Amino acid sequence: MRLATLTSGGDCPGLNAVIRGIVRTSSAEFGSTVVGYLDGWVGLMEDRRMDLYDDAFIDSILLRGGTILGTGRLHPDKFKAGLEQIKENLADAEVDALIAIGGEGTLKGAKWLSDNGIPVVGVPKTIDNDVDATDYTFGFDTAVSVATDAIDRLHTTAESHNRILIVEVMGRHVGWIALHAGMAGGAHYTVIPEEPFDIADICKAMERRFQMGEKYGIVVVAEGAVPREGTMDASLGEEDQFGHVTFNGMGQIIADEIKERLGYDVRTTVLGHIQRGGTPTAYDRVLATRYGLHAARAAHAGQFGTCVALRGEDIELVTLEESVEHLKRVPQRRIDAARIMFG
Ligand code: F6P
Repeated sequence: MRLATLTSGGDCPGLNAVIRGIVRTSSAEFGSTVVGYLDGWVGLMEDRRMDLYDDAFIDSILLRGGTILGTGRLHPDKFKAGLEQIKENLADAEVDALIAIGGEGTLKGAKWLSDNGIPVVGVPKTIDNDVDATDYTFGFDTAVSVATDAIDRLHTTAESHNRILIVEVMGRHVGWIALHAGMAGGAHYTVIPEEPFDIADICKAMERRFQMGEKYGIVVVAEGAVPREGTMDASLGEEDQFGHVTFNGMGQIIADEIKERLGYDVRTTVLGHIQRGGTPTAYDRVLATRYGLHAARAAHAGQFGTCVALRGEDIELVTLEESVEHLKRVPQRRIDAARIMFG
């Protein structure tokens, strides 16, 4: 059998571990070969590819962040218009099945290809951990570790200067990174997209700390957090060509408002792409390797239109449809539990 794989959408620590898992499993268990398309769907449409061998190079990529195949975004209209080209390119390369590694947008694309007769298996990827069908996506643990390390460091400098430090983390639609990093790092307040915040509550919590003699505070803000209606004037940014919001910097907006209301010294740190770069944690390397292995096995078993998913301790197969049905939002019980640690 000859498999193809590609990585699409934002990069994520662990992508290379998935690729390695696919190549090694295909070679060791099935004697199959693998071709990698470059820069996501774009490379598939333009027939840009490289053969991936079970060799020392593939072995070495386990620790590497990013993706050796490159990644990209393609507008759904252009993607759909390229169906015949995609079919032709896969046939020319003698590809029997495609493993698409990506987030919600990529998995939707994979489902569409599958519905149109292309044998596809999906692997869920995102640091945001917002794919509902799986307990965890690889990359999330690395992002949380990076954010937690940053919060740990901010505690000491905030305390030394009696400052309130705002830490803005990624999380376009969901607050998993903010919730976990905030809890692990002992943040004094965390705001996430799932529950619009009231700036007065944040100010109250900070004021209480100063009154009690703890004259500093750490507030974690997910980039997609929004104020409760009628409490404060602030909006997320415009939408780009893919329908993604380009954020206005909610961390800084909150910092300015706290400064205005309380007069404290408030500074902002935006972690941005630092959370997505660099070497994956051990947890993410293991999860990504297992995803790669199970995706290769599913492709060899002809289980197309499916996506690998972590359920408890096991990797299972769900349908691609199920994998893109809902975003996994932070449930209310987790928000309520986190709130007990605020202040
Ligand atoms: O989807 C993952 C994510 O990291 C979001 O949290 C973030 O808003 C987005 O990607 C950033 O994407 P880009 O690299 O295109 O700026």
